[in-house]
Amino acid sequence: MSSDKIESVLGEKRVFPPRPEFVKKARLDAKKLDALRAAADKDHVGFWGDQARKNIAWQTPFTRTLDDSKAPNYQWFDDGRLNASANCLDRHLGARGDKIAIRFEGEKGDARNWTYKELHAEVCKLANGLLSLGITKGDRVIIYMPMTPEAVIAMQACARIGAIHSVVFGGFSAASLKDRIEDTGAKLVIAADGGNRGGNIIDLKKATDDALASGGKTVEKVIVYQRTKHSVNWDAKRDIWWHDLLATQSERCDPVWVEAEHPLFLLYTSGSTGKPKGIQHSTGGYLLGAHVSCQWVFDLRDDDVFWCTADVGWVTGHSYVCYGPLSNGATILMYEGVPTIPDAGRFWKICQEHGVTIFYTAPTAIRALMKAGDEWPAKYDLSKLRLLGSVGEPINPEAWMWYHRVIGKEKLPIVDTWWQTETGAIMMSPVPGATPTKPGSCTQPLPGIAAGIVDDSGNLIDQLDQGGYLVISKPWPSMLRTIWGDNDRYISAYWAQFKNKYYVAGDSAHRDADGYYWIMGRIDDVLNVAGHRLGTMEIESALVSHPRVAEAAVVGRPHDVKGESVFAFVTCKGPRPEGAEADALSKELRDHVAKEIGAIAKPDDIRFAENLPKTRSGKIMRRLLRSIAKGEEITQDISTLENPGIVAQLAGKA
Ligand code: WT7
Repeated sequence: MSSDKIESVLGEKRVFPPRPEFVKKARLDAKKLDALRAAADKDHVGFWGDQARKNIAWQTPFTRTLDDSKAPNYQWFDDGRLNASANCLDRHLGARGDKIAIRFEGEKGDARNWTYKELHAEVCKLANGLLSLGITKGDRVIIYMPMTPEAVIAMQACARIGAIHSVVFGGFSAASLKDRIEDTGAKLVIAADGGNRGGNIIDLKKATDDALASGGKTVEKVIVYQRTKHSVNWDAKRDIWWHDLLATQSERCDPVWVEAEHPLFLLYTSGSTGKPKGIQHSTGGYLLGAHVSCQWVFDLRDDDVFWCTADVGWVTGHSYVCYGPLSNGATILMYEGVPTIPDAGRFWKICQEHGVTIFYTAPTAIRALMKAGDEWPAKYDLSKLRLLGSVGEPINPEAWMWYHRVIGKEKLPIVDTWWQTETGAIMMSPVPGATPTKPGSCTQPLPGIAAGIVDDSGNLIDQLDQGGYLVISKPWPSMLRTIWGDNDRYISAYWAQFKNKYYVAGDSAHRDADGYYWIMGRIDDVLNVAGHRLGTMEIESALVSHPRVAEAAVVGRPHDVKGESVFAFVTCKGPRPEGAEADALSKELRDHVAKEIGAIAKPDDIRFAENLPKTRSGKIMRRLLRSIAKGEEITQDISTLENPGIVAQLAGKA
């Protein structure tokens, strides 16, 4: 985060107390929230045990709430059995069978609603289809689909039979898909022919074919949901149309009851080193976190239309499109496309037409819509909205105020929710009927979440207004269980820094005089580009895999819409390219990164130099590169550089 942004956040003094009209109807007011916090503080484990008994439908009740004997591999509710899909669907069939579960709108304007009964029937048909293909409990299934209800159906169908799903965001390339298939050892891929995005067709079937041509030998079958109907290649031995598979399946499929610790899903995310990590989530603890946070943070009620704009390829789409709202019996909205098709009013038009009451999106989208101008939201009736949310990166006070003023008409609460792929559910957020908000602060931890800030030696910082590492000091039910296939990495990435005492989130934060948390951003080599988490090392290895590249260093550069953009410094084999040759190679490298990872990882800037700035011990000086990327005057001491002369070249001045 740039220093001017930090200053604007630190100078933020505005406070917005909950409005009485909201408090009156809210699930939690200040008194109830205090009572929950007090209960959790008094008996952390007992508190979560009570929540789990109250909120989750167990087939076999648990008797052990927390097993910490193998810490930091914690286990929650481990002798209980349940099924996530039965919690999301079957338990609503009585009272809410004809209630709309999903309202869907495609980018081209096609729309369809699914009731809980219809959703249940379709999930059962697909689950039976999976069983007929020999998929059983514990098998891994990759889901590579557009944002259509079928993506949620695929997740729920896996959960129903105890198969472990791993959703791969449709914007990731064939190469990334292949890596994930191989790391999970998946037997099956559920894909679509394509998805509509930004007026184009994303050819998911072709990417699947490419991924499987280059590896992924564990995959036996590919189920293809027909969405875009463009012509696709077909491998008759391997590929099955979704509609053909489901045509003969029964609408009844008994859920497979799994242990609470049975993995519900794997979701890959970037870290500071190596390949993306397969974050493993449990069934019982995860579902509890997704479920209760919907009630506490979103005040979710039966008459809400809940729209979380995240793709199901990200954890936000898992917890707040698929599992959290459906386990609460809510109506969700799913939209396939981008916010700017056909124009910048699309999101607000959807809110009007579908009567959206809760709207949850990312700061990068808010900034883009803010830039498009106030005239777009002004065209539409947003009066059904009652709550706004933000997630994915720190929201700058300017964007917060715009959201508050133009979308919230200065009346709606804004919940700025801090959490991570690893945490499974929201960890810090205002509770809208209870917590006064401040623009740019995620305010306070939710009940049962023991957040803290520690210094370099791992001492908790009690003093307010002093920054440090954001940590969680007690296990919580929806925490990740491990990294798939690499428990050592789980321990080294999240626990080892402070001798297994704290979960280390990878963010820095500080608290103000009211004890409110302000997240300052990542402290590791992880970038947050338009709310997408990318490892600098991943992009560097993608660049270096190009035959012309000798070495690459990637840093983030502040960007007014995306938050951060990717800036790459590259040295080439052979002479340093210049002029038209440099332009052509830049384009080639950008395309190469898109092919290796996905278009979201393309560098906005590439600068060629003869060398990278290294210390005499050979370490790349990233701090210096970050300053250069920002265009700052270099005032740092570069005397320790092995090659101080290179700085002018890196800065584009030679
Ligand atoms: C990282 C996690 C789970 C949410 C989607 C992103 C940043 C997330 C906030 C927020 C400040 C935030 C952090 C975090 N982040 N929400 N409200 N305020 N920063 O999940 O891809 O796992 O990324 O996103 O840096 O560590 P993710």
